[in-house]
Amino acid sequence: MKKNIPFFLIIILLINCKESTKQSESIASEVVESERNSTWWKEGVLYQIYPQSFKDTDGDGFGDFRGVIEKLDYLESLGITMVWMNPFFESPLVDNGYDISDYRAIHPRYGTMEDFQEMLDGMKSRGIKFVLDVVVNHSSDEHEWFQSARSSRDSEYRDYYHWWPAEKGKPPHRHSLFDPEGGWDYVEETDSYYLHTFAEAQPDLNWENPKLRQEVYDIMKFWAEKGVDGFRMDAFQFASKDTTYPEFPEGHEKDFVKWYGMRPQLHEYLKEMYKEVIEPYNVFAVAEGAGSTFKDAHDLVDADRNELQTAYHFEYVDMSRTPERYELSEFKEVFTLWDKEFSENGWLAIFLSNHDNSRLVDRFGNPSPEFRTVSTQMLNTFLLSMRGTPYTYYGDELGMTNIDMPTIEEYVDIDAIGKYKTALAANEDVEEFMKVLNYSSRENSRTPMQWNDTDNAGFTSGMPWKKVNPNYKEINVAAQENNPNSVLNHFRKMVKLRKENEVLVYGDYQIIQQEHPEIYAYTRTLDNQKMLVLLNFTDQDSNISLPEVNSLNNTLINNYEALTINNNTITLKPYQAAIVSIKK
Ligand code: NOJ
Repeated sequence: MKKNIPFFLIIILLINCKESTKQSESIASEVVESERNSTWWKEGVLYQIYPQSFKDTDGDGFGDFRGVIEKLDYLESLGITMVWMNPFFESPLVDNGYDISDYRAIHPRYGTMEDFQEMLDGMKSRGIKFVLDVVVNHSSDEHEWFQSARSSRDSEYRDYYHWWPAEKGKPPHRHSLFDPEGGWDYVEETDSYYLHTFAEAQPDLNWENPKLRQEVYDIMKFWAEKGVDGFRMDAFQFASKDTTYPEFPEGHEKDFVKWYGMRPQLHEYLKEMYKEVIEPYNVFAVAEGAGSTFKDAHDLVDADRNELQTAYHFEYVDMSRTPERYELSEFKEVFTLWDKEFSENGWLAIFLSNHDNSRLVDRFGNPSPEFRTVSTQMLNTFLLSMRGTPYTYYGDELGMTNIDMPTIEEYVDIDAIGKYKTALAANEDVEEFMKVLNYSSRENSRTPMQWNDTDNAGFTSGMPWKKVNPNYKEINVAAQENNPNSVLNHFRKMVKLRKENEVLVYGDYQIIQQEHPEIYAYTRTLDNQKMLVLLNFTDQDSNISLPEVNSLNNTLINNYEALTINNNTITLKPYQAAIVSIKK
C-alpha cells in the first residue's frame, strides 16, 4: 500500500480501536474519498527518465538507481512533480527492457530493490511521485510463464499466451511492429505458432484468461505497496484482440490500432483493473495510445468510465516522423482539435518527445547553434502552457539534440534494425531510408544525459553503452546552471509559472488567428485570470496584430529581453515565446 495513503491508518484504527469502529471507518472513508478526487496527476509536471542513459555510478556504462539518487536534488530543482521511468526489470534486453522476464525483480544493471526503495523514498521526500512502466501486452520469451507454455500444450501457463496449433495449417498473416517476418512464430516442441505484436522475443499475453489478468493486478499491487503512485500501460491498446483470427485485408497494417487492438473487451479489462488496483490503491494509470477515434479516447479516460485516468495519443508526434518539415497549420489544428474534444470530459497528456521518438528540438524546433536555445525554450513554453499533463523527456530541459548516425552498423535498436531489414526486402532506396532513419530513429533520444563537459559528459567513468552526443561540451547541465537565459533555467521558470497558476492547467484554451502562418497564439482563461501565449515558430521576425494589446498586463515569461509592441502590433523575434497576463 502506498506509504502516504492512510490505508495503514485504517488498519490500525480497525485493530486498536474496536470500540470506535464506526467512527474510524467514517474518517477513513472521508480521507480516501478526498484523495480519490485528488488531481495531482493533472496539476503535475512529469519528467521521463530513461534509466540506462541518465547517470551511471558504478562505471559499467549503464545508468543506475544510485545515479538517479545522486541527481535527486537536480530533479527537485527542476520543479517537476512526477517521474516516469522506463522499465528496469529483469530482462534479456532485446527491446531495452520492454521484454520482461520477471516483473518483480530488478535487472542488476540498475541496482537492488533497496536502491530502488531509497530512490523512491528520495523522490517522495521531495514531493515527486513515481510512475512505473507496466509492460503487459507481452512478456519476454524468457519469462518462466512462456518457457513453460512453449514446452507443453498442457502447461498451466499455456493459456497465458496466444497459440495457433499447426494442425490447423498456417495462421492468417499478422503484421509485427518489429519483426519483418510477421507476427507468428513457430515453436517445434508443441508444433504451434505464438503471436507477437512486437519482436519475436516479446510474445503477447492472453488477456482473455482471467488468471493472467489476476497475475497482472498482483504485480501492480506489489509495486503499489512499495509506494509507486502511477502506472504507464505500455502498448495497452493491443491487450485485447480478435482471437477468432479472421483474415485481414491487404494493407490493413497501415491502420494498425484499428485492426490489432481496441476490441470492446479492453474496457472490461480496464474496469476490472480499476476496481482491483487503481481505486483501492489510489494510484493513477496512463495508457500509451488512445485508440483511433476521439470516442475511443473518451471511453478510455473519462472519469465516469472508471477505467484509466489519462492517455497519450500519437497524433502530436506523428506530425514529424520524417525530415520533411511539419506544417505549423497542422500542428495548430491537431492541438486545437484535441483540446476542444477534451475541454469538458477526460484528461490527456501533452508531449512532443519521448524514448520512441527523436529529439524535441530537431523535430519541432531548430537545432542549429544559432536557434537551438530559443527554439527549445519556445517549445517548452508551449508544452507547459497547454491543457493536459505536460511530459518532458530527460535532456529536453537542456535542448539536447539528435546524434548523427549515418550507417546502419552503428544502430543497436531492434526497431531500427527491423525497419532496415524491411526496407531492404522491399527494395527501397537505402540511402534515402538511412536519411529518414538518421533523423527519426529512437537512438537519437537515448544518448547519455549531458551533465558537464568532462569525459562522457559526466554520465559514466566507464564506457557508455551508447555514444555520447559530441555536442556535450556545449550542451550540458553545468554550462547552463548559472546562466539565467539558458534553456534549463527557462524550463525551471516555466514549470514554476505553471505550478503557481491554475489557469495554465485548467484554463479554457482559445486559439487566436489560427491562420497565422508563423505565430501560434492562444489565451488561457480561468475565472478572473487570463493569459496570452505568443509563440513564433520561425527563424524570422514575425508580426501579429491583436486587439488585446491594450489590455496587456505583465509579461510573465519571455525568452528575449522584451516584447516589441507598436500600436496594435506585436513583433516576435525568431522563436520568441512569451506569456503575458491580460486585464479582464
Ligand atoms: C512501446 C514502448 O514505448 C516502446 O519503447 C517498446 O518498444 C514497445 N512499446 C514494445 O513494448
